[in-house]
Amino acid sequence: MRNSYVESDKQYVLHPYTNLSAHQTLDPFIITHGEGIYVWDDKGNKLIEGMSGLWCASLGFSEQRLTEAATRQMQKLPYSHLFSHRSTEPAIELSEKLVSIAPDNMARAFLVNSGSEAVDMAIKMVWYYNNALGRPKKKKIIARKRAYHGITVAAGSLTGLPYVQDGFDLPAIPVMHTATPHYYREGLPGESEDDYSTRLATILETEIQAEDPDTIAAFIAEPIMGAGGVIVPPAGYFEKIQAVLKKHDILLICDEVICGFARTGEMFGSTTFNAQPDLMTVAKQLSSAYLPIGGVLLTEAVYEAMQKGSDQYGMFGTGNTYGGHPVAAAVAVETLNIYQERDIVNHVKGLSGQFQAGLERLAEHPLVGQGRGAGLIGALEIVRNKETKEQYPAGDKVAAQIANFARNHNLILRPTPGDSVALCPPLIIDDKELALVFDRLEAALNDMHQLLV
Ligand SMILES: Cc1ncc(COP(=O)(O)O)c(C=O)c1O
Repeated sequence: MRNSYVESDKQYVLHPYTNLSAHQTLDPFIITHGEGIYVWDDKGNKLIEGMSGLWCASLGFSEQRLTEAATRQMQKLPYSHLFSHRSTEPAIELSEKLVSIAPDNMARAFLVNSGSEAVDMAIKMVWYYNNALGRPKKKKIIARKRAYHGITVAAGSLTGLPYVQDGFDLPAIPVMHTATPHYYREGLPGESEDDYSTRLATILETEIQAEDPDTIAAFIAEPIMGAGGVIVPPAGYFEKIQAVLKKHDILLICDEVICGFARTGEMFGSTTFNAQPDLMTVAKQLSSAYLPIGGVLLTEAVYEAMQKGSDQYGMFGTGNTYGGHPVAAAVAVETLNIYQERDIVNHVKGLSGQFQAGLERLAEHPLVGQGRGAGLIGALEIVRNKETKEQYPAGDKVAAQIANFARNHNLILRPTPGDSVALCPPLIIDDKELALVFDRLEAALNDMHQLLV
């Protein structure tokens, strides 16, 4: 490898989600290659990618079939688009396949290039839908505190994490942020999960009434909140929230960008948590991250109103140059084929017992207040006092330090807001590899504990 990569990185690369000053003193963590669930850094360390990159590389880093699918399509037709009635075979196949594996009420697919674009497009669709129905006032979107929906102007507005909005003049669209459904932190003494969900639904009802239901278009939710700290909804949450939304004719958008494609032990997180969305956003594991692609799935009812709108306005006037790119679509089709052939849903279901047991075991560790998760996504919430749930000062960045220790043990983890450490390994992981993940995570917790006592 050429010697100058580190210096050139510091000189030329503007890194996302990075303190730009610190980057001048810290060397970049350069990943050079990968195989299975492992990646190698430029120093020759072989690490378990315990976060699947950014919750996305579901089939790991050496799936030959995806490489071949991309090559085949690149040789056949490297580019065409979907504007003005044009189409391509991979985009057609992918849309059909997505609808066929999605919950029954999903009827159409609109292809984009990323999760943020999918969220932006879903919001545009909701606005378009209400305009077509003659309800121009019904435009506000309800999101949740600690939600992550991406970075574009609309998606970044819906995201409920200050570090994504600070300095960017966000939110810039009409959005309200309602409560995070975090039972461990927000549940009252003696309150059951179900009662907590009832309370959240009541809060939502009050907020909607205060804002005027006729001005609220949609509620957007990740089935499990990922980047905000892997927050698993309490029992009954989506049923109760959705009853309130239905009453006020407010659409539900499920942001499946992380949860989609077996992550939670069902093909979609909406199914795991009994949500019946009107629109769904997908990306990441859709192509196992091998190429950028995302999509919005919608019901026939939403589609029909949009069709009416397109007559009214002359066309459905939106689309990206690369939306439904044939090479990315071909890779996504192959990814979905692999999920089906290898029965990835049952593979995840089969391992989720071991995964949850691992989280529960580590919840006994003196530094851990709660272990939570579903399928193959989870987190440990770090506390100073297990009884009172008191946390370390945010400035101590304990979760970040644990992630650093984990890296010394060749495991990549992610610290999240709320001082939690997230885990989201490639779905192809096996039981022996999963045991290794928990051994390394425990070693990192022990290192941190030693430093603190
Ligand atoms: C739930 C969710 N929605 C949307 C996004 C944005 O996706 P992208 O980074 O592809 O724009 C993310 C990214 O992490 C996400 O986790």
